[in-house]
Amino acid sequence: MYRIAVIPGDGTGPEVVREGLKVLKAVSSKVGFKYESVTYDFGGERYKRTGEVLPDSALEEFKSFDAIFLGAVGHPDVKPGILEKGLLLKLRFGLEQYINLRPVKLYPGVWTPVKDKEPKDIDFVVVRENNEGLYVGEGEFKDKGTPNEVALQVSRNTRRGVERCVRYAFAYTRKRGKAKKLTLCGKTNVLTYAFDLWERVFNEVAKEYSDIKTDYTHVDATCMWMIKNPEWFDVIVTDNMFGDIITDLGAMVQGGMGIAAGGNLNPEGVSMFEPIGGSAPKYTGKNVINPLAAICALMMLLENIGEEHAARLIEGSVMKVTKKMKSMSAGKMGFRTSEVGDLVVKNL
Ligand code: IPM
Ligand code: MN
Repeated sequence: MYRIAVIPGDGTGPEVVREGLKVLKAVSSKVGFKYESVTYDFGGERYKRTGEVLPDSALEEFKSFDAIFLGAVGHPDVKPGILEKGLLLKLRFGLEQYINLRPVKLYPGVWTPVKDKEPKDIDFVVVRENNEGLYVGEGEFKDKGTPNEVALQVSRNTRRGVERCVRYAFAYTRKRGKAKKLTLCGKTNVLTYAFDLWERVFNEVAKEYSDIKTDYTHVDATCMWMIKNPEWFDVIVTDNMFGDIITDLGAMVQGGMGIAAGGNLNPEGVSMFEPIGGSAPKYTGKNVINPLAAICALMMLLENIGEEHAARLIEGSVMKVTKKMKSMSAGKMGFRTSEVGDLVVKNL
């Protein structure tokens, strides 16, 4: 009996989570596993009502679950940063989800803005460090409000944090077993402290993985290659900030936010799965948002808790459904949100 915590969150989050849970229900009865889900109303509305974002007690409670399924975070009436830091980042940091795993895979029939590329060319995974770097929020103002003002924002990279991420990436590349190639994405030519550490750790760990080919690209060049030759990538490992940026590019390469999913992993603890896109306030409640990203996040969740077969059934179904859809974009799919969920269930 799996226990799954569900945080539908803001905006279109509840709509896409509903479709994800629809697919979970269907696949569980097909494969024959049992689960219970507990829904939490954390997000913008609750914050506006109570002033509470995510109490520490809830963080503790989440530790007793097998996984967390998250919709979206971000509310138009709440100042940017409050929910992002107080909910999403607090979960990622508080539950030590030190890996953000973001597959970039073009499914059949999905339009990519990258000319002349097909599903066989676009299939790689970004391993983003998820607990350190610029996201620790370290920094200060000096002489704030004066012409001499200085704003410092520190990227914290610890030996332990970098090493566990790099180790995960090597092990994952081996397990994935595709091209068996791991690329470190950094900026060693300018960020000569942070990426010096990353590069040293990467080269050290590489010695234990003689079966894995290694490569290095600067982050700017990574963006270029992701468009020009996405087929060169198998697995990319990078820091938190660069990972954030290149995975938005990755989401576009794979057809848009409507299909891009990710997992915040604590390989030794509880992990959280979410569509990469935001809360899309302008589409809220209209039944037009694409739920496939959330359904793919659920697929990753199942894979993570050991329901590999259920995950493959979902992916197989998604690959049939994408062929029938006109577009991955909200309002242009040729189907309503709920119809896409129904189609995935039907094709399981
Ligand atoms: C993401 C988002 C978050 C991030 C924001 C909402 C804090 O952009 O999941 O990529 O920067 O990590
Ligand atoms: Mn992002």
